[in-house]
Amino acid sequence: MELFTAMKERRSCRNFLTEPVDEAMIEKVLEAATWAPSPLNTQPWEFMVITNPEVKGKIFAEGERCRKWALETTGWKWLGAYAIDFLKSAPVIIVVIGDPKKTGVDMFMEEGSMGYQAACAAAIQNMHLAAHALGLSSLWFTLFDKKIVREILGVVPEKTPLALICLGKPESLPAPTPPPRKNIKEKTIYIR
Ligand SMILES: Cc1cc2nc3c(=O)[nH]c(=O)nc-3n(C[C@H](O)[C@H](O)[C@H](O)COP(=O)(O)O)c2cc1C
Repeated sequence: MELFTAMKERRSCRNFLTEPVDEAMIEKVLEAATWAPSPLNTQPWEFMVITNPEVKGKIFAEGERCRKWALETTGWKWLGAYAIDFLKSAPVIIVVIGDPKKTGVDMFMEEGSMGYQAACAAAIQNMHLAAHALGLSSLWFTLFDKKIVREILGVVPEKTPLALICLGKPESLPAPTPPPRKNIKEKTIYIR
């Protein structure tokens, strides 16, 4: 698949078929992740591949808890209608875990370690594009408390579960009109 087509056609999926995904495909998606850039090539990511329904159920329960908390805290009405059943139906959830110690000179700067998160985000985008090129769909999910997901999955406190990537075949095609993007002219200043 042509790269620009993949970038434009990839869509977040929130309705997955329960049909399993071949391990070879999961490995291709993970391999794509490892080709992302990272500060000093530290490769600060680790992955957990979850297909176990019981563990997915625990993640769903945490997502639901967090959704209700967010609804109360923000008052954003859409959160009331936002169904996250995809955490149970997606055949695969890949947990992306970052290591704050694997970063660049940013760890000595005022803002602290941020490069490792940027690198993990680049890895996640590679995963999304690889999934799309393989005919799969994906979702970058972040509505969870990192401490609770650490406990569910047994992640050490020194590392951070940054995102859950749902992966599988979509139940239906994405909406014909994608979420709109602003014109690049509104977002760019040239300093010549
Ligand atoms: C850092 C980050 C966090 C996100 N978290 C969530 C999430 O928790 N739940 C969700 O449904 N989508 C989440 N998304 C997906 C966005 O909603 C989605 O990318 C955006 O609406 C644009 O739609 P598209 O991906 O189909 O182009 C997240 C995306 C990013 C980059």
